[in-house]
Amino acid sequence: MAILHPSKPSEPSDAGVPQGAPPAPADPTPVDASPSGPPAAAAPALRFAPVPARMEPPEGPTVSFDPDRIARLLEEESHRLDESTPGSAATFARAKRTLAGGVPSSYQARKPWPIYLTRGDGQYVWDVDGRRYLDVHNAFGSMVQGHAHPLITEAVSRRMALGTHFAAPTEDAIVVAEELERRFGLPQWRFLNSGSEATMDAIRLARAITGRDTVLKIFGSYHGHHDYVMVSIGLSEEHMGDREDYPSVAYGAGIPPSVTAMTVAVPFNDGDALERRIVRLEAEGRAPACLIMEAALMNCGVILPEPGYLDRVREITRRHGIVWIVDEVKTGLTIAPGGACEYFAIQPDLICLAKALGGGLPSAAIGATHEMMEPVLTGRVCMVGTYNGNPLVMAAARANLLEVMTPAAYDHLEHINRRLLDETQGVIDAYRIAAYPVGIRSKGVVAFSDSKLVDYETFKRAQDEQLMALAWLWNMNRGIFATPGREEEWTLSIRMTDDDVDHYVSVFAELIDALTR
Ligand SMILES: Cc1ncc(COP(=O)(O)O)c(C=O)c1O
Repeated sequence: MAILHPSKPSEPSDAGVPQGAPPAPADPTPVDASPSGPPAAAAPALRFAPVPARMEPPEGPTVSFDPDRIARLLEEESHRLDESTPGSAATFARAKRTLAGGVPSSYQARKPWPIYLTRGDGQYVWDVDGRRYLDVHNAFGSMVQGHAHPLITEAVSRRMALGTHFAAPTEDAIVVAEELERRFGLPQWRFLNSGSEATMDAIRLARAITGRDTVLKIFGSYHGHHDYVMVSIGLSEEHMGDREDYPSVAYGAGIPPSVTAMTVAVPFNDGDALERRIVRLEAEGRAPACLIMEAALMNCGVILPEPGYLDRVREITRRHGIVWIVDEVKTGLTIAPGGACEYFAIQPDLICLAKALGGGLPSAAIGATHEMMEPVLTGRVCMVGTYNGNPLVMAAARANLLEVMTPAAYDHLEHINRRLLDETQGVIDAYRIAAYPVGIRSKGVVAFSDSKLVDYETFKRAQDEQLMALAWLWNMNRGIFATPGREEEWTLSIRMTDDDVDHYVSVFAELIDALTR
């Protein structure tokens, strides 16, 4: 994080609006916090005029955060959350006796205990202590529909009474495939049960088609928990090595080095580095079968592709006979009806969907050109799974795609996200902090950095883990459920309202105010 010339804004005025802050580029003007006035006992909300989000770091000097202040706030907020979640503490004490680490997935773990939930409705979730939160975690970006959507609930209930699993196809699978063809422009589809299964089978398909073994991926990108892709992620700065020749490092034990060595990472947003690495691999007799990547990086906040980069990737992969797999597990269905393919107008050979496809049921899909799916049709590649195309999942996906994630739903997400981006930009400008909001449709983040984040290295260099931990606790203590301990973006749901945006932005403004006071 940038620590340049500390010159913090002055204390809030009676109206709760910082006065006398250094003149910000867009000259923020105070906005009336609440026309009807806040409740007598409540602290007045901090409000600032929105500024169109620039998606770029600020220019000029910025105000620093004092690490001691971060540490003190972290301790206070940590204590506050512990005090208010005794039910989760008790549940954890019971759970850890039989459920390893007290959680079904290590990504759900948290110290001193995870926050256990009981239910979700619309944009909210409730924990075992009865606390309600606005959900922007949304199940790692799966629940863009919001929780317990009535139309999905009805579709699943109807299907439930008709039998839930046959391992034989049902009509819903055809309808879902037809709708995905319409949205993504790829003619052939198969269904699976998780994003990891989708990326694993897509890679197998690419290997079968090219007769090559090497997998190219983007350094730092997550594509699921199977051996082919648990490589070169989660690395700290000192272990990154040379970006021209990143080492292939297994993410955790139990992955054979021979498998890890077959996956090679290249930096995002750098077409030249991609091509140089391909040429070297070809010279070594290890020409790549595929490049698997996200069109915009998620799981590192949000990192957008630079202009021309994706076209360059398409051109390079085509010229070298490499299958281009776009992992749309996070972007598909959340940033546009046709995901990143539509949003960035790209034409990959294969795409992987999961998360938001099933409206909260475990789902995934692979979309392919006719040529790419051919080995499956001839039986040369075995693409199978007992639960593939499960009727409950297909019923949920059908309702989700045809009735819930409509054009109006995407317009609403655009409206809510635009407000979040512009209003957090307003706060950032008012306090002149080294940060910038960046996002697309339902996805976004405030990146705390004075330089632009373009790849995993720049992201990691800017990352302040203490600040991230504080921001999470701050949100949780003020009714906002964000993704615990992960390098995540926010995911909005279509159920979010303008009042929810007001809440989110005022909590953010209060954090920045507390940090700069
Ligand atoms: C981009 C991306 N690809 C693949 C996956 C794996 O999906 P799943 O957890 O459903 O296996 C994830 C999960 O977070 C992801 O973010």
